[in-house]
Amino acid sequence: MEDLAVDVKDRERILDAVNAGKRVKFVTYSLTDTMERQLDFVVAAILKKYNHSKLQSTLYSCLKELVVNATKANAKRVYFEELGLDIANPDQYRQGMESLKSNLSESWIKKYGELARRAGLESSISFDHNPHGLRIIVLNDTDLLGADESRIREKLSEGMSYEDLLSFYMANGDQTEGEGMGLVMNLLLLKGEEIDPALFRIGNLDGKTMGRIEIPFSEKFQSVRGTDPRGWKERPPQGEIELDFTK
Ligand SMILES: Nc1ncnc2c1ncn2[C@@H]1O[C@H](COP(=O)(O)OP(=O)(O)OP(=O)(O)O)[C@@H](O)[C@H]1O
Ligand SMILES: [Mg+2]
Repeated sequence: MEDLAVDVKDRERILDAVNAGKRVKFVTYSLTDTMERQLDFVVAAILKKYNHSKLQSTLYSCLKELVVNATKANAKRVYFEELGLDIANPDQYRQGMESLKSNLSESWIKKYGELARRAGLESSISFDHNPHGLRIIVLNDTDLLGADESRIREKLSEGMSYEDLLSFYMANGDQTEGEGMGLVMNLLLLKGEEIDPALFRIGNLDGKTMGRIEIPFSEKFQSVRGTDPRGWKERPPQGEIELDFTK
């Protein structure tokens, strides 16, 4: 697999772990270039090992979106604290978001990523894989706010009615600019690869937010949600609440 990438931090360790069939896990506070290259490399190594390299760009785009969301949510929490605003209060939330919008930049992300690190708010990315499939879980130490949850639910169920990204953009035109598009984009990208949308989940887990993508490589793949991923909502595993946007 020598040709997968150059200049990737810990590349030998990553390759050894992937080739040994072990879980690969990262902890981060902001999505740096180094981390981006590492994540791209892990995805490439795993997909190559199981002969699914054609999913590379879709999967990496989806993963990147989840990691950006995770690190941004932690940084946002610290930012609101610094402004003395209550993130759970709708008026104060609006105020904080306005301020955030005019200040968001590379340096904002660096600064508040660092402050999130000091506050112990981390994001983790884990890759579990075997010949039957891949499971990527992104966790961050801040919960999903109720308002965001309903917005996501709404957006995603709307996204479900489109077959692919292009038709979604065609139908939504200018409204697709700006925020709240990332997760819909993920959903449609996966749909475009004929991956069951039920295998892409966002949820709350013990005060953390979880993003999960599962990619079956064989018929024998077992989703965390059981053999019938869509049927799982009748019996959610304890402690895990998931957003259901599959209907
Ligand atoms: N991991 C997460 N932790 C906490 N909140 C999250 C997380 N992921 C998403 N959210 C909330 O859900 C909202 C919707 O996410 P989504 O990715 O669809 O849009 P966005 O990140 O705001 O904008 P875009 O992705 O289009 O740049 C986010 O604005 C954020 O408030
Ligand atoms: Mg996003």
